[in-house]
Amino acid sequence: MKKKEIISIYQDKIKLFNKYNKFYFEENLPVVSDQEFDELKSEILSLEDKYNFLKSKFSPSLTVGFKPSKNFTKVSHRVPMLSLSNAFSEEDLSNFEKKIINFLSEKSNFKLSYSAEPKIDGISASLTYKNGNLLRGLSRGDGKEGEDITENLKTIKDIPKKITNKDFPKEIDIRGEVFIQNSDFKNLKEKFANPRNAASGSLRQKNPEETKKIPLKFIAYTFGYENGLKVNNQSDFLNNLSEWGFKTNPLNKLITGIKNLMENYNKIEKKRASLDFDIDGIVYKLNDFAMQRRLGNVANAPRWAIAHKFSSSKAVSKILDIEIQIGRTGALTPVAKIQPINIGGVIVSNATLHNEDEINRKDIRIGDIAVIERAGDVIPHILSIDKQKRSKNSKKFIFPKNCPSCGSETIKEFNKVTKKIDAVRRCSSEGYYCDQVSIEKLKHFVSKEAFNIDGFGKKIVENFWKFKFIKYPQDIFNLDFSKIENLDGWGKLSVQNLKYSINQKKTISLERLIYSLGIRHIGLENAKLLSKHFVSFSEFKNLSKQINYEDLLSIDGIGETQVSSIKSFLSNEANIKVLNELEKVLLIKDAIQNSDDGLLNNKTFLVTGKLNGISRAEVKSLIEENSGKTISSVSKKLNFLIIGEKPTKKKVDYAKQLKIKIIDQAEFLKMLN
Ligand code: IVH
Repeated sequence: MKKKEIISIYQDKIKLFNKYNKFYFEENLPVVSDQEFDELKSEILSLEDKYNFLKSKFSPSLTVGFKPSKNFTKVSHRVPMLSLSNAFSEEDLSNFEKKIINFLSEKSNFKLSYSAEPKIDGISASLTYKNGNLLRGLSRGDGKEGEDITENLKTIKDIPKKITNKDFPKEIDIRGEVFIQNSDFKNLKEKFANPRNAASGSLRQKNPEETKKIPLKFIAYTFGYENGLKVNNQSDFLNNLSEWGFKTNPLNKLITGIKNLMENYNKIEKKRASLDFDIDGIVYKLNDFAMQRRLGNVANAPRWAIAHKFSSSKAVSKILDIEIQIGRTGALTPVAKIQPINIGGVIVSNATLHNEDEINRKDIRIGDIAVIERAGDVIPHILSIDKQKRSKNSKKFIFPKNCPSCGSETIKEFNKVTKKIDAVRRCSSEGYYCDQVSIEKLKHFVSKEAFNIDGFGKKIVENFWKFKFIKYPQDIFNLDFSKIENLDGWGKLSVQNLKYSINQKKTISLERLIYSLGIRHIGLENAKLLSKHFVSFSEFKNLSKQINYEDLLSIDGIGETQVSSIKSFLSNEANIKVLNELEKVLLIKDAIQNSDDGLLNNKTFLVTGKLNGISRAEVKSLIEENSGKTISSVSKKLNFLIIGEKPTKKKVDYAKQLKIKIIDQAEFLKMLN
């Protein structure tokens, strides 16, 4: 190709990139999928790489945009908007049901009924009604806090503005999905990549008049806060919704037993293509509200519901390269760069190869022709390769023995719990020694469930890193904004917005902070346990001065794996420095103690042996609901040992020796009245 032609191709791409960017960042309308956008970007970057005469001030290597979500005020959800865990097979469903039955301590043949609701792939919204009037509408946001998009939601015909039915609760948040029907999407194809993008884009318009132009639909399926709701199960609730004037999914069904769930799933999957709305699975909710309440939630998903995802779409493509990505915990993940291919409406150019063992087991090589599978929002993966089509001189892929980023030795650890060697190879560096690990740690630090800094996405982390603006988490709070303002793609306003979002997050709960640190094996749930245990940041930090971490083992839910991970985190100097520096710039709120007005306030419990009609997990949540605490071993800290059938003799003896009060199930229940 001639130089002139190359320049012209390059400039066309830049023009397109500019257009997409403008729509996304200024008009709030994503006109293409993220994948397409990223692809265009990498095409431009690789052209620049190849031909060093190509230059543009609009190059993605220089520009950084960010979502102006300041348009909408943030409002807390009175009851968090949870997400759902996924099931992909009958086995997953059986396990889901088994866990419920165990928790409820029922017999294994106990029959459970579920509300089976096809899962519409749209944008969820929460509508607050007071005395029948629609007061406010919020987006999901991070589940805890959403954006006030009331005016836009009010333009949707399916959303009742006033409800006069006598049995409509005095106050209730009605939740459901905003979406676009496929038949309506046809006319919007030019502007958006898929119906979901179209719904999200139009819902986040600055101007409700713009939202009004798009035929958005709303289907209701659950509630958040309520006062005066008089139903005991989900199927009655769905019936009520229709009576109150909401649309509900016509394919909702009440079903008992896994076999019947599977039958319904297969039927709906066959119908899927002919439906006028996109569904990506079926949501199963335990029908009985009383059982739902007993089961409660883990982290941010309910124990009583699950999303059964539809099987994926597959396609055949060529593996162009195998790259090694390094995660925040140092894990080396091989990723296949494949010839871009459309799988179920999404352009796929990367597929995960999971880990070293997977590559070896399947003998996957660069140049192979592979079957790639994509299921819903899960990262596409390589299903199989065609060895017949392999060229004679193809070579086995050798996994790097040193970290491609920092050169440290890579290791496979021995897992003490499973007594097996890990399938994952890791960079053995610690703290912030490895650049790639550090970048990933920073991405985790600003992510939705961690600090959730508005507009501070992964791309910005990478960019600021490149310009050496950030290396450690604390640097985010000490940015020199005048330098950022000088970067291409940034202006006064966007810098102001960024400053504002960062300042807003300077007050943080201990729980979120611990999670944000990205300590291996410390997810949301464990961070919560640790925060409750330590209460204040200084107590948490003081742990590093202790020689003995045994104490942590008494926290119900924290095991050896977690303790040794915390220990290695706190024995790293760079990590301690991060803690000290963060303490200077943040206001870290003490953990909110369980309300201390409960019947079991200040009391600790441990169960040994089998109880009757109630599982360990439920006892634990009962104790916590009543301001008590459960611990995992007999020690001086224990107040009550609850004994069931066949208790562990050692525990009982030790408790007697320590003069701890020993009670049975009846006595325990009496304490709760
Ligand atoms: S219930 C605890 N019901 O799925 C219950 N969600 O991953 C969570 N969704 O953000 C919500 N159809 O956008 C529920 N019938 C349905 C649903 C549904 C679609 C979406 C919703 C939510 C996501 C959960």
